[in-house]
Amino acid sequence: MINIVVLLSGSGSNLQAFIDAVNAQTLDAKIVAVISNKADAFGLQRAQQHNIPTEILSHKDFANRDSFDAALIEKIDPYKPDLIILAGFMRILTPAFVQHYRGKLLNIHPSLLPKYPGLNTHQRAIDAGDSHGGATVHFVTEELDGGPAILQAAVAIQAGDDGATLAARVLRIEHRIYPQAAQWFASGRLALRDNQAYLNGELLPPNGATFTQ
Ligand code: GRF
Repeated sequence: MINIVVLLSGSGSNLQAFIDAVNAQTLDAKIVAVISNKADAFGLQRAQQHNIPTEILSHKDFANRDSFDAALIEKIDPYKPDLIILAGFMRILTPAFVQHYRGKLLNIHPSLLPKYPGLNTHQRAIDAGDSHGGATVHFVTEELDGGPAILQAAVAIQAGDDGATLAARVLRIEHRIYPQAAQWFASGRLALRDNQAYLNGELLPPNGATFTQ
């Protein structure tokens, strides 16, 4: 059983997937806190409904990224997390923050990384004429959306898709792969070593493991 802290800024549907996986006992973890940089994030309400402690830390109260991230570390560490889950946390993290949690900081990005780091991923995939969009769970390193991939799922782009319709289908698969990757970590099967992701002691391929339904 590991302790997880979730960081988010918005709806928190991925947080909900974690809550559901914990309740279904498919994720051997306790969500010990949910922290948001936005007071109105719906994810905070999801946490409260399940009696998970919540914290708000607004980046607007800090002069710069370094001081915000230092305060964030002070909020997180008393919960003694084994794993930090970024679930729609819309902040770029400083190298100091990332290094503090090296090997236990995961993110999910809504594209088939290394394609489309950054924002607007679904529309960019459609505009490029790609056959698939998708999502990638990865370890967080200093490079934005660039850390070693763990698990990736592809979603076919359909005629008539726009960014919103594709995003909705990708989100449904995010809710399956993110708790799955966290369970690999919880069971000791997943590790970051020398900036590379290992599953069951074997180096994962550059795009991570492939999720098949
Ligand atoms: C997801 O699309 C995720 O891939 C991205 O932020 C979004 C969070 O959605 N990192 P939600 O708040 O979990 O519903």
